[in-house]
Formats: sequence, structure tokens, C-alpha cells
Amino acid sequence: MTKISEKESNPTIFIIFGGTGDLCRRKIIPALYNLFLENRLCQNFAIIGTGRSKLTDAKYRSTLLDAVDEFSRRGKAKREDWAKFASNISYQIANIKDASEYKEFGSRIDTLKENWKLAPTITYYCAVSPEFFCTIAENIVKSKLENNPDTTRIIIEKPFGRDLESAQALNNKLLTIFEEKQIYRIDHYLGKEVVQNIMAFRFANAIMEPLWNRNHIEHVQISVTEQLGVGTRGDYFEKAGILRDMVQNHLLQLLCTIAMEPPINFKADEVRDRKVDVLKAMRKIEPGKIDTISARGQYSSGWIEGKEMPGYREEKDVDFNSNIETYAALKFYVDNWRWHGVPFYLRTGKRLFKSASLITIQFREVPHNMFQNEAGRIPKQNRLIISIQPDMGIRFQLEGKTPGLEMSLNTLDMVFDYSGKTKSDSPHAYETLLLDIISGDQTLFMRADQVEAAWEVIMPVLNFWENSKTANFPNYPADSWGPENAEALIAKDGFHWFNLPEKNKK
Ligand code: BG6
Repeated sequence: MTKISEKESNPTIFIIFGGTGDLCRRKIIPALYNLFLENRLCQNFAIIGTGRSKLTDAKYRSTLLDAVDEFSRRGKAKREDWAKFASNISYQIANIKDASEYKEFGSRIDTLKENWKLAPTITYYCAVSPEFFCTIAENIVKSKLENNPDTTRIIIEKPFGRDLESAQALNNKLLTIFEEKQIYRIDHYLGKEVVQNIMAFRFANAIMEPLWNRNHIEHVQISVTEQLGVGTRGDYFEKAGILRDMVQNHLLQLLCTIAMEPPINFKADEVRDRKVDVLKAMRKIEPGKIDTISARGQYSSGWIEGKEMPGYREEKDVDFNSNIETYAALKFYVDNWRWHGVPFYLRTGKRLFKSASLITIQFREVPHNMFQNEAGRIPKQNRLIISIQPDMGIRFQLEGKTPGLEMSLNTLDMVFDYSGKTKSDSPHAYETLLLDIISGDQTLFMRADQVEAAWEVIMPVLNFWENSKTANFPNYPADSWGPENAEALIAKDGFHWFNLPEKNKK
């Protein structure tokens, strides 16, 4: 993450492969447009969208305007602002499999350089299905497009591989063409506002560090629940499952941010080294013990807000007997001095009761309860709750005296929230990430070894789940909190999954 004062961008050319795709419409263009409105883009910038449809620049711009109107955090674009922004957008029809069709990009880059009289940063954005990542990289070389390690970058979206072996193969291929410093592997959770704040909260406050270890923390929960089902992504999900889709990347990265040692500075490699240390310290899961540390689920039909929702097996492009999991719960340990014996519980699932991303850190019980007669109850354990979305905030649950004549205890929340900020004030993750790419800051991006270490952690579960058919799928209804075996997984250790109470919802 670049320092605010340093967030000035260079002349930039974005070549977006997948320029007519969903990601481009929903995330990339709205993010670039918001950066433009905040004067974060240098006045010399160009966006070249590419796809297989035949489109004029005017038609392409108008489809992107519709996308911004629908998906930008600021709502509908003001027409005069949009006109200024859109004058920098053009469209180039191209078959990404055919290197000869890349030549036109080279001519456009040359023309822009000549007009600007400045050397721009050139960013190739692979917003396409993963099977094309290598093809694009190879065709950039074959067609002799610019690939200067200091000024050229490539953005790779997830999924990065579908297992350890394919991730290694993809890394090896990309690293024959680009240097690591040119490759930006996106995990958009790292760009989320509250996730970025975890590092500030941990490492800019002297009171946190002494508490942040096994002496004071009893267990950690990382929970990313979603109300949405797989929708139109059945085809993708049948090949992925939630372990690949969410756990290998987003949830493990959240775990790393909580568990990492303090970096000695805020440089990209130092921060990423500390995260890799966590992944390497994670206890290897023994193949025979998968069922004792994990639970999987698949949703059946149900009702959400008065509407009947199909079960996973009834979704488009999903096998009627599918064995793919749409819910996963896992228990991990990080075997180092700081975390020895502290369980980390992770859960994530689709079509659940609420959409919420929460990290809960539960502290240990008081060593002695001096209020045995007065307070009427045992003091509750303190909790630090980091709420990533939809509410954004950090709350500390502490015990205090209920006002009144008696000494009775009550749980109080000390809240650091973002309520002064509306949702539209906070930059979207893609804005942060794209600005970091423009300014060449890799802190929030996955390094090759980081992605591979994360695959290594989940491979035993992935192999086991893929090769053992479950008899009880589907095992949780839409609108529930997931399967019973996930409740049992945490209950057997004496805990329960934590949800933000309804009253705290805004
Ligand atoms: C994506 C997954 O990476 O993250 C989706 O592929 C998931 O399945 C999404 O819905 C969740 O992201 P967010 O930002 O909506 O929490």
C-alpha cells in the first residue's frame, strides 16, 4: 500500500483483456472512474478494452457508462465527468489466442507515447478466464509488445491455479516472461478498507502487541458468509468449490494478517515475507484426520426474503448429483511461539442467513472471578470483533458495571466504526488495488511463494473432499447458518460460531 502522499500516478496505459466481460464492467471500470474523479489518475492515461465482439469506441464507451451507472459506489455518473473520462477509453477487437492480433496494441502504445512525449507505465490486465493467462503472456512476447521490467506490469485475477501443481506451473510460465516485480496477483480482500486497517490496528498501537498471543488469546474465528448462491457461475463453481473459491485465497490471507509477526517496515516484500512465515507455520493436516478438523456442506432450496431459492444442484450448469461443497469450515493451528495451541476456525458458505465478513478474537477468561457473590454471573470473555462488511468497524467487548445500586456486570462495546462515512465514501477494494498497481506497490498483492504456500495448506483437504463422495449432500437449507457438522466442529472444543448481533446492524 502506497503512502497517501505518494499516491500520485504515472502516465498509464491499461490494456484490458476481457474488456467486455463482467469483471471489467462491475469492478475495473467503476474503480478507474472513481480514481479519475478523485484526481488519482495522471492526465495522460488510456484504457484500451479488448474483446471479440465488433464494437465502435462510442458503443464500447456507452456500455461502460451503463456499467458505471449501475455499479459505481457513487451511483450514476455525471455526464460531463464521464465524457472527460471516456475520451481516454478505446476499444480494440482481438482474439486473445492469436498473437498476430496483438500487433495493433503495439501501434497504439507507440502513438500514445509519441503524443504524450513521456514513457508510460503499461499494464496488461488479464480479466479473463484462467485458461487464457498463459496464452496472453506468451502472445505479448510473440507479438513483441513492450515488456520493460521497470515500466510494464501484468495483472492476474484469481483463481491462480486449481491446485498446488497448476499454480506452480502457472508461476513458472509467467516467470519465464515477466519478473516477479511485474506480476500483480489479485486477492481483492486485501484491498478492503477494514482489512488494511488490521495492520494499522495491530502495529500502530503499543497496547495490542503484548496481548496478541497465546497467553491472552483463546481462539480466533474468521467467518465470511454470503446470502448469494452461485447464480450464473455454476459452471465455474462445479470446477472450483468453496475451498478453492474462498478459503485458499481470501480466508487464508485474513488469517495471515491476524497471525503475522510485526514486519520491520512497510515494504512489500517484508510484509509478504511475514505472511508467508504464517502459512509455513500452519500445521500440516494429516490425511487420516481431515474429518476431525473440517466440515463441508452444500445448500438445498429454501426461502429468502419471501422468495424461493433453488438448491445448489438445481442451479444452472450444476450436476444433479454434484459433490461440490458450497460451505466449508476448518480448524487450523499455527505452530510457532506466538500461537501455539490457539485454534483458528474458518468458515465460509453461500446461501446463508446473512452476508457478513467477521474476524472474532476471543480472549481468555479472567484468572479469578472476584465477583462471585455480587455480580450474579461469570464475567464474559473479552472479544475483539473486526467487522469487514457490510458493517465496517472494530469493536472491543469488555465487561463493566451496569449503572445502578447493585454490582452487576454487563458486556459493553467499545466501538470504532466508520459510521461517519457512508458506503460511497470508502474506496472500493479495486480502487486501492488499481492505484497501487499504477504506482508500483506490491504490498497488497500475492507473491508467487505466497500463493503456492496457501495451496500447500489446503491440498490435503482438497484431495480428500474431491475423492470422497458425501452421502448427505445437500445438507443445509438456504437461509440457514450452514450444516450441523460445522456447528459440531467448533462445539466439540466448547465454542460456538460468533455472529454480529442483529441490534448492531445498521
Ligand atoms: C470472489 C468469489 O473471489 O469473492 C465469489 O469468487 C465471492 O464467489 C466473492 O462471492 C466475495 O467477495 P465480496 O467482496 O463480495 O465479499
